[in-house]
Amino acid sequence: MNEILIQNVTKIYPMGESKVYALRDISLSIKQGEFVCLLGPSGSGKSTLLYVIGGLEEANEGRVDIFGERITDYDQNQLSLFRRNYIGFVFQSFNLFTRHTASENVQIPLFFARRDKRTRKEQADGLLELVGLKDRILHKPGELSGGQQQRVSIARALVSDPPLILADEPTGNLDSKTGKEIIELFVNLNKDNGKTIIIATHDKAVAQFAHKIVYLRDGCIQNVEENKI
Ligand SMILES: Nc1ncnc2c1ncn2[C@@H]1O[C@H](COP(=O)(O)OP(=O)(O)OP(=O)(O)O)[C@@H](O)[C@H]1O
Ligand SMILES: [Mg+2]
Repeated sequence: MNEILIQNVTKIYPMGESKVYALRDISLSIKQGEFVCLLGPSGSGKSTLLYVIGGLEEANEGRVDIFGERITDYDQNQLSLFRRNYIGFVFQSFNLFTRHTASENVQIPLFFARRDKRTRKEQADGLLELVGLKDRILHKPGELSGGQQQRVSIARALVSDPPLILADEPTGNLDSKTGKEIIELFVNLNKDNGKTIIIATHDKAVAQFAHKIVYLRDGCIQNVEENKI
């Protein structure tokens, strides 16, 4: 079954008098449980494609269906509910709250979902254990290494148990060894927990783990490679 169906998506950013075509007539389908890698030079549209899939940016043309829901027809309220239930985002810059502990940072989505305090803490701490941070639960981001901070943000992306994880350059701020460990974490989440994962990256090493590699250039899909792994 196709979990994500992208049909003829175009995204234009207005820039004063001119327009930037960030995505041009993109069509792509992604199956449930696939590990997908978006590769391409800077400015090719990787982040924009992730944001359109995640409903953070609106397409100018085309349709995006996720689990049979046409999210391109959604209003802002429907989109935020959809994101909360279906999608976990991981960003290059971690986006953690510096004054809060690892556990509190992971609990944030559950706070918005109005879970009680005890459930929040149990779920958050369980996920921190899953990402290898059992003994760092009370640390604040400034007291953690870059790789550990990224693990916290991955735990936060997972805490609502979304079926789809979107990651934008998740290893971009990490050294290559730490980056490798983070990629291993994604690979395991895909294999063991069945998460569908889409990673935008410059790092060709990520591609070896992907079922599908999408090469972008100037907002167009240049090539889609299927990997038997
Ligand atoms: N908010 C914006 N306003 C105007 N143009 C934008 C905006 N965001 C992105 N763009 C343009 O859209 C194009 C695609 O950008 P995008 O961020 O998707 O590229 P990318 O492949 O993620 O690049 P990188 O590898 O550097 O992260 C670029 O030409 C960029 O300049
Ligand atoms: Mg980008």
